[in-house]
Parts: sequence; C-alpha cells; structure tokens
Amino acid sequence: SPSDGNNLRSPICCIMGHVDTGKTKLLDCIRGTNVQGGEAGGITQQIGATYFPAENIRERTKELKADATLKVPGLLVIDTPGHESFNNLRSRGSGLCDIAILVVDIMHGLEPQTIESLNLLKMRNTEFIIALNKVDRLYGWKTCRNAPIRKAMMKQSKDVKNEFNMKVTQIVTQFKEQGLNTELYYKNKEMGETFSIVPTSAISGEGIPDMLLLLVQWTQRTMIEKLTYSEEVQCTVLEVKVIEGHGTTIDVVLVNGVLHEGDQIVVSGMQGPIVTTIRALLTPHPMKELRVKGSYIHHKEIKAAMGIKITAQGLEHAIAGASLYVVKPDDDLEYIKKAALEDVESV
Ligand code: GTP
Ligand code: MG
Ligand code: NA
Repeated sequence: SPSDGNNLRSPICCIMGHVDTGKTKLLDCIRGTNVQGGEAGGITQQIGATYFPAENIRERTKELKADATLKVPGLLVIDTPGHESFNNLRSRGSGLCDIAILVVDIMHGLEPQTIESLNLLKMRNTEFIIALNKVDRLYGWKTCRNAPIRKAMMKQSKDVKNEFNMKVTQIVTQFKEQGLNTELYYKNKEMGETFSIVPTSAISGEGIPDMLLLLVQWTQRTMIEKLTYSEEVQCTVLEVKVIEGHGTTIDVVLVNGVLHEGDQIVVSGMQGPIVTTIRALLTPHPMKELRVKGSYIHHKEIKAAMGIKITAQGLEHAIAGASLYVVKPDDDLEYIKKAALEDVESV
C-alpha cells in the first residue's frame, strides 16, 4: 500500500539563506568534505546536490536516542547560492524540494536574502526549518564537537547562555515581523504552525544531529503521500556543463520515478526541444557533492530521489531549470516535445 512506508523515495531538502551564513559549510560538516574551501571567493555559484544514505543519518543522530527509524532510503540535499545575483537558482532549488533549511547567522539575524528565501518558501507553501548557525561564535563558546545542541548548551557558561537567549529572542522577533511564528525546536509544541529553530555550528558540529533528525522525522511524519515512489518520471535540469571526457552533460534532480541508461529523453533547448538518448547515468559517491568534479559511479538505472549527471548527445543547448521527459514506447513524441516547449516558457 502507498502508506506502508516501504516504498518511499528520499525527501529532497533545499538549503537556502543569505550569503555566507554557512549553507555549504553545514553540508561539508555532515559530509566530512571541504567543498566550501574550493569555491572561488568562498561563494557558491551553482546549485549542488548531495545524497545522504539513511545509514549515515542514523549514525549521525544516534546520540539523540530518539526514534530515528528511517523509513526513507536517505535524504537528497540541494545546496543553493546566497549571493543576491542568484535569485533564479534559489527559486529553482526551492521549487524542487519537499522541505527546506533556512540558514540564519546567529550573529547577523535576518538579512536581505533570508527574507527573499523566506518569501520563495511562503509562496510555494514549502515546509522548512531554521538553522541558526555559527553558535560557536558566541563569545566564550565551549566546543562540544558534533554534540546534540541541548547537551552542548549545558556545557556553556551563564554568559554564553544569556547571549544565546538574547540573540534567539531578537531573531524570533525579526521572524514575527515577517509574519512567522518561530521557536527553538525543543520548545516547539505546535510544529506546522510554529517554525522550528535548530541552533548549529558548521565548524564544530553542535546541533547537526538535531537538524538531521528533525528533517527526517518531519518529512516522514507529514509527507508520506508526497514521498511515495511513483513510476512517473519527474526530473529537472539543474546545470548544463562541459565535462572533460564526457562532452556537454546535464546535472539533474530526479524527483520521482526511475531513469535507465538508453532511455529516450526530451529536454528543452535554446533552439527547441532536444530529443536524445541517455548514454551514461552518473552519480558522485554518497556524501559527495554532484557539482564538484570527482569520480562518478555508473548506473544502469537510478530510482528517485537522486542528483544525477547525464551524458548524451546534443545537450549543448539544453536549458537549466527545464523539465526532462522520458519517452516510453507507447508515448507520442510530438506531444512530449510540445510539453517541453511549453515548460520552457515557464523557466
Ligand atoms: P554562499 O553559498 O556563498 O551563499 O555562502 P554559504 O551560506 O554557503 O556560507 P559558507 O559555507 O560559504 O560559509 C561562509 C563563511 O562562514 C566561511 O568562511 C565559513 O568558514 C564560515 N562559517 C560557516 N559556518 C560557520 C559556523 O558555524 N561557525 C563559524 N565560526 N564560521 C562558519
Ligand atoms: Mg555556499
Ligand atoms: Na560563501
């Protein structure tokens, strides 16, 4: 049955917020990578995708001793840029996700792209949690590497706790000015109406277990229907990229359904719909970023949700943000091409 929880796809989570609040660094902390350190000027300029298998999430949340029974195969996280010039990428990312993490720098509070991101989320009625990041910058903070946040807070001095509470109160007020009720997640008794705040540090990892647990529990509890695997392919092009040895490739997010090597596909192109055949289906290794060049795993088929690099002929003029369609034997190709044309008008 659709609700037995055995046939769920991974939830897609988009990470959004103002520039330099620590979005990429938070993902680095979970992945054990340094993607942020390799970015020009430390600025994210592309959408990324990372797959976190359930085992890794279970491992990372075990100290919370909560019921971290994972019914989903994993979590697919979409990284977006916070720089003001990338509104289109934030919009593309938020349009794909089931849930979002809105990252706020505890030292700065709400900033222009926080509010812009918030408006995108409100517009689409997207569920989200708030990561109140950089708690380690509170003066006198004692590092408790990768600890659940309440455990870390217990280790802090009275002054740190006071400063923390003051900042949280200020930020809750700022959210209220935006028409939103927010509350520290462990005090939040009306999830769904009041948005949860998870204090985090991307540098020392405090609060990361809480953030992961909250994401998984919340999606599993409230989105079973949406997360039920379906045969119908739902897929969006994130980026169009030339990769040495592969020619022009497209990075896609497969939201639902399955893709196979050899599938005939239609993608919108600058000069009209592109009809081509999937030559290779590639993914980075789990816990690695799709947008970073590395070694790829070749797949015969891939089930949703996943960030995938597709190689095929004729992708040079593919349009990022457009949908990808699979042509099945009984499908009317002309009908699909028309759908692709109409779709691109909305990108
Ligand atoms: P854009 O993608 O460019 O919008 O930035 P971002 O939100 O991904 O932030 P990024 O990960 O690039 O981090 C920005 C800077 O803040 C870097 O110098 C990080 O090292 C630093 N930083 C991020 N998170 C933390 C944190 O929790 N604590 C401290 N002290 N510094 C952090
Ligand atoms: Mg970034
Ligand atoms: Na940055």
